[in-house]
Amino acid sequence: MKAIVRTNFDDSVSAYDAYEQRTGRFTALARLLAAELSARADGPFDTVLDAGAGTGVSTRVFAERAQRPIALDISREMLCELEGVPRVEGDFDHLPFVDGAFDGVAFTASLFLVPEPAIAAQEAARVLRPGGVVGAVAPLGWVDADGTDVFADLERQSRSPTGADDVEAALADAFTVATGTWRFATTAENVRRFHAIPAMAARLYPRLAADERVAKARELLAGLEGTVEQRWRWIVGVAK
Ligand SMILES: C[S@@+](CC[C@H](N)C(=O)[O-])C[C@H]1O[C@@H](n2cnc3c(N)ncnc32)[C@H](O)[C@@H]1O
Repeated sequence: MKAIVRTNFDDSVSAYDAYEQRTGRFTALARLLAAELSARADGPFDTVLDAGAGTGVSTRVFAERAQRPIALDISREMLCELEGVPRVEGDFDHLPFVDGAFDGVAFTASLFLVPEPAIAAQEAARVLRPGGVVGAVAPLGWVDADGTDVFADLERQSRSPTGADDVEAALADAFTVATGTWRFATTAENVRRFHAIPAMAARLYPRLAADERVAKARELLAGLEGTVEQRWRWIVGVAK
């Protein structure tokens, strides 16, 4: 599973950056998460691990608040895009850091990509100092004006390895958590652009090769029109 996720993101660099340039969505999510985290940290919020940093969109946001951000990602190709911040190629289920090393650990749109988020949650608890904070953002999908899942109408599931409820439960086992939902109005065209990212199209067509799955996703979403809402669950925790 992890090797597949790594390959999917290795294949996604240019489409990911194109989507982010067009929508600024991951920057917006990281800004909201950074605000929640820094408000709850008991003490400094300087040494922050961006767990699943990707091309560094979220890392650059954390660098606005934290003096010592560190970017970690399983995909070398994604991580190669980031400059000027320490980068570590690694798996957030086995963090290569000593206990208590961080004021904050952030999973911006990344923790739902592992089948067992409890392992990464325990690792986050281990590397956080007392009073440190953890945060995660996980997708709740796309809904139309009636609150109906866009993919229900398309008779296709948009399935993450792990749902937002399971991400929340994993963090709630290790931390005292607060949670909520962020909603973004977006366009049908942006839903198509999101699924032009091979790693995202893999949610719809996991068994197809990158080019094929992107083409099938474009076909599936061709008739989608108008405005839709994208929802994300946020979870922030402090050590129990
Ligand atoms: C949707 S991207 C988000 C990237 C970045 N946080 C942002 O806001 O743009 C998710 C990232 O999580 C990484 N990832 C997935 N599973 C991982 C794991 N087990 N360990 C480390 N990184 C992982 C992927 O390689 C990908 O770069």
